[in-house]
Amino acid sequence: MQSDQRRLYSDLAWVWPIVSPKENYVEDAEEFCQAVWGYSQLEAKEILHLGCGGGHLDFTLKKYFAVTGVDVSDEMLALARQLNPEVDYQSGDMRSVRLDKTFDAVLIADSIGYMLTVDDLRATFTTAYVHLKPGGIFYTYAEEVTGRFRQNRTGYDTGSAGSVDVAFIENRYDPDPSDTTYEMVFVYLIRHGGHLTVETDRHLGGVFPLEIWLDTLKEVGFAVRLTEDGIVPVTFVCVKQI
Ligand SMILES: C[S@@+](CC[C@H](N)C(=O)[O-])C[C@H]1O[C@@H](n2cnc3c(N)ncnc32)[C@H](O)[C@@H]1O
Repeated sequence: MQSDQRRLYSDLAWVWPIVSPKENYVEDAEEFCQAVWGYSQLEAKEILHLGCGGGHLDFTLKKYFAVTGVDVSDEMLALARQLNPEVDYQSGDMRSVRLDKTFDAVLIADSIGYMLTVDDLRATFTTAYVHLKPGGIFYTYAEEVTGRFRQNRTGYDTGSAGSVDVAFIENRYDPDPSDTTYEMVFVYLIRHGGHLTVETDRHLGGVFPLEIWLDTLKEVGFAVRLTEDGIVPVTFVCVKQI
């Protein structure tokens, strides 16, 4: 078995703004804002975004909140700092980071899928809990749920920047549905002034039953106010009770 490469967040991080531009994140950011304004018992001013990546969500969130972003990738943090100089970005792992500060809301978006075990999930929810003020909201979602995984799902994005054209293909496959991981294989067709190079990349993602998400959130201390249960993703709006 090949390793979890995550080239998209290291040597190929420069591709991120080209194939996944910030404009694609406005709707997701607004949904988070609506949840905070709808469910929080606090007047939300300061938020913590764990797994903030290249800062594309933060680009919208910073209009409404003072944002602190945490990510494990220095390359993604460099992109985020360039895009959002006014945001406080810090290096850290969402399972273990401790900032010695509490926030009015905590967000974990499309990075929670990198939690591969129930222990990872529990540790991450605990990070969210200890950084949240009582009455505040923790918002996250499960991109994949056991029993709803679409085997061999394949999608693509394309983008250009100057003389660089990129086509990005993503394939999701679960070789062993009895465990809690699946694989994402990415293929990048990169043309510099028309000259083609092909790169490949492999990430592991986590897939858990819905009950595991709910039980683990409750175990950590959250009251789950809303479970928006489409097929996937499944959104969780949780409160740290006063
Ligand atoms: C899809 S990107 C997030 C993009 C982000 N939504 C944006 O607005 O640009 C996923 C991010 O999760 C981060 N990540 C993965 N595991 C992590 C961990 N254990 N702790 C913190 N960040 C993590 C990766 O480094 C990557 O930047």
